[in-house]
Amino acid sequence: MVDVKQNVSLKPYNTFGVEAIAHKFIDLTNETRLVDLFEQDLFAQKFYVIGGGSNILFTQDFSGTIIHLSNKGIQHFVEGNHVYVTAAAGEIWNDLVWYCVRHNFPGLENMALIPGTVGGSPVQNIGAYGAELMDIFYSCRAFDTKTGQFRTFHHVDCAFTYRDSIFKTKYKGRYIILSVTYKLSIHAPLNTKYGAIESELQKRGIAQPSIKDVAEVVSYIRVEKLPDPGTIGNAGSFFKNPIISNQQLNELRSTFPDIVYYPVSDTHSKLAAGWLIEQCGWKGKIVGQAGTWKHQALVIVNQGAATGREIYNLSTQIVEDVYKKFGVELEREVNIL
Ligand code: EPU
Repeated sequence: MVDVKQNVSLKPYNTFGVEAIAHKFIDLTNETRLVDLFEQDLFAQKFYVIGGGSNILFTQDFSGTIIHLSNKGIQHFVEGNHVYVTAAAGEIWNDLVWYCVRHNFPGLENMALIPGTVGGSPVQNIGAYGAELMDIFYSCRAFDTKTGQFRTFHHVDCAFTYRDSIFKTKYKGRYIILSVTYKLSIHAPLNTKYGAIESELQKRGIAQPSIKDVAEVVSYIRVEKLPDPGTIGNAGSFFKNPIISNQQLNELRSTFPDIVYYPVSDTHSKLAAGWLIEQCGWKGKIVGQAGTWKHQALVIVNQGAATGREIYNLSTQIVEDVYKKFGVELEREVNIL
């Protein structure tokens, strides 16, 4: 029997720390229980699956069932020059990073301290400091809430792009990811090209960094720059960095020569949304109980007592201001419920 709780506060289950009540709530530690839930027709009604709650904003109470995934376990096996690491969806992402660091498996260290769980990692193709989940993803096992069947997705099935995958588009809300397998190249060179990593390693006098050195430096940079969700509610970057055509970029550059951008292809470039937001005067600005982080304007913070609606309204003001000034539409990276 699955333990279904009624009227549960979601405050401990979202890193924004906003209050919202789930009509029904299930803490799922064992995937076999999904079959019972399917047979009870639970997935025919409104439901939503959460892991670490680090990429979600509740703007109202949830009238359906929240399924909190908390299955655990990490295993690996080595084959030639590769290691396959499989982690249960409910594992904390950063615990997996340090599992790999301890075993000397490279590939996850640049993504140290990203909040959230393993299950969320392919959904939004998490990334940081020059690394992206899609670089190391091998497969994931998922439960199809439409058919009640289990299915394995390989890399080609997932349609990964920047902060996006098939689980956010075509299959949004359909599959529950239960475990993820990462394929790591045992002798892969470390990726320390990202400016902030390079300069911090230099400051520490480390010329030949280990996997652990990189994980430590990335963790240090994140702690310096990003607010700790344990103390100040937030969900990391609230918006995606917008991708625009080079033609639009050139027009913008003639008016805003300092605009921060990175080429992503021959025809398109990515703008630093943090820069756009800062130029609109929003960096560190607080309205009521919500605002943006003083060191990184792309992060919206809860000053303590913000409601989800208040945070959402603030994000709308930012979207409008950026559009008015630059003609660029910011897209929310955080899921709004
Ligand atoms: N910038 C500003 N003002 C700001 C913030 C940024 O001018 O307030 C400009 C600066 O020029 C800076 C540039 O934007 O050099 C890029 O900033 P940063 O290195 O902080 O990266 P980002 O593009 O803002 C992305 C990810 C982060 C990830 C960092 C580091 C997205 C949406 N965000 O941020 O991911 O940690 O790169 O790799 O792609 C997250 O997704 O939750 C997240 C924190």
